[in-house]
Amino acid sequence: MADNKGGDGHDAGRRDFLYVATSAMGAVGVGAFAWPLIDQMNPSQDVLALSSIEVDLSAVEEGQSITVSWRGKPVFIRHRTAAEIEAARQVALTDLPDPQGDEERAERPEWLVLVGVCTHLGCVPLGLQGQFKGWFCPCHGSHYDTSGRIRIGPAPTNLEVPGYVFLDDENIKIG
Ligand code: FES
Repeated sequence: MADNKGGDGHDAGRRDFLYVATSAMGAVGVGAFAWPLIDQMNPSQDVLALSSIEVDLSAVEEGQSITVSWRGKPVFIRHRTAAEIEAARQVALTDLPDPQGDEERAERPEWLVLVGVCTHLGCVPLGLQGQFKGWFCPCHGSHYDTSGRIRIGPAPTNLEVPGYVFLDDENIKIG
């Protein structure tokens, strides 16, 4: 198949992203920048009313991410590689516009859970892109690292970590 976006990611970029739906919602996998528009134009009351969702992580292999919907927003769940964890944890807090240690953002280092909404103007960032191979928001050029922390660009704060708990080793509850 032909490469789509992703630059140097080639097929790895596509392989590393799975878009799945949880049982608590309808469809996900909406195009990256359609989400905010849809959210504004058609706030689904049943989706917005869901205060929490449970997500089965068993099929998410290391290096893969899924996107689920929670309270009408995309939530990224990334099964981080050892290299991504190390990259996130080596960063000095003084290098961060919004200083926060990776340990504070990931209860279990291998799992990163983020609200997938750029903190600048609300676009949905693209995974495995940008200067830090975390997320990149091309709307105005915000680069996030492998902990979802803003590193370069106009976004004022890190990607939000929602409240969540591990129900067991393979299931989390968000919200
Ligand atoms: S909305 Fe992401 S950089 Fe502006």
